[in-house]
Amino acid sequence: MWAGRAQAYASSFAGVCAHPVPRLLDAARVGAGVRVLDVGTGTGTVAEAACARGAGVTGVDAEADMVEWAARAVPPAAIHLAVLPQLPFSEGLFDAVTANFVLDHVGRPRAAITELRRVVRPGGRIAVTLWAVPEAAGQALLGRAVRDAGVRDAAVRDAGLRDAGPPVPSRPAGPAAEDDFPRTETGLTELLTWAGLRDVACEPVRWEHRVPADAWWAGAVAGLGPVGQFVASRPERTRADIRRHFDLLSTEFAIGGGELALPHAALLAWGRR
Ligand SMILES: C[S@@+](CC[C@H](N)C(=O)[O-])C[C@H]1O[C@@H](n2cnc3c(N)ncnc32)[C@H](O)[C@@H]1O
Repeated sequence: MWAGRAQAYASSFAGVCAHPVPRLLDAARVGAGVRVLDVGTGTGTVAEAACARGAGVTGVDAEADMVEWAARAVPPAAIHLAVLPQLPFSEGLFDAVTANFVLDHVGRPRAAITELRRVVRPGGRIAVTLWAVPEAAGQALLGRAVRDAGVRDAAVRDAGLRDAGPPVPSRPAGPAAEDDFPRTETGLTELLTWAGLRDVACEPVRWEHRVPADAWWAGAVAGLGPVGQFVASRPERTRADIRRHFDLLSTEFAIGGGELALPHAALLAWGRR
């Protein structure tokens, strides 16, 4: 989902993911001199904010394209290629570990959180964010546009097939049941507690993301997010149908000048090793 998409991510969805970053860094107690690891750093938003606080920052991401982008964008940080649930660091190396909207995308969240705990020192902090389920109205916009466009029917027409293919996804294919957890305050709290963290807390974060409608659509067409992957894989004519419904539904969120105010809801959780 992220391969080769650093440019598209930086100019669209990175903006919405940036909102909780100050609270994430506060929860991880990131300040001057703190050795912090930002996992799934993407284009480096969290790494950059941590550097601005005077922290010593290491970042990792599973995608080479993201690693290159973050290394260029945040020169004071050391950025490496690494894929959860395995990190190339010795036990207890960091004072704090952050992961902003990364647990959403890993196939083995329990193994991933166990690995985050391993690399933080005793007493050090881990802070993570996650998209809340059910999703807020702004997050649901693209999926609604796909459904309203009757894409299953359109896919049949375009492909000349009897079967319309996969249903519209709202999340990536989930982890195996034994590795999964409920995407709720209780579910995320229990995950961090299960991993052996102490003083675990979790709180909802809600905000309105203001973005030009064209930029939001461009992120989807570039294949970002599960719905974006679906939109990007449709033929041109189907994409045009979805865009028409996107424009109709967008009037609910329009604030003038081609901009939308899209309500979003996430969960922020933290704990101490
Ligand atoms: C939604 S983006 C968030 C990026 C960044 N944390 C931010 O706040 O903008 C998710 C990132 O997680 C990375 N990622 C996904 N699965 C991963 C894994 N198993 N290990 C490390 N990074 C992963 C993706 O490549 C992508 O850059």
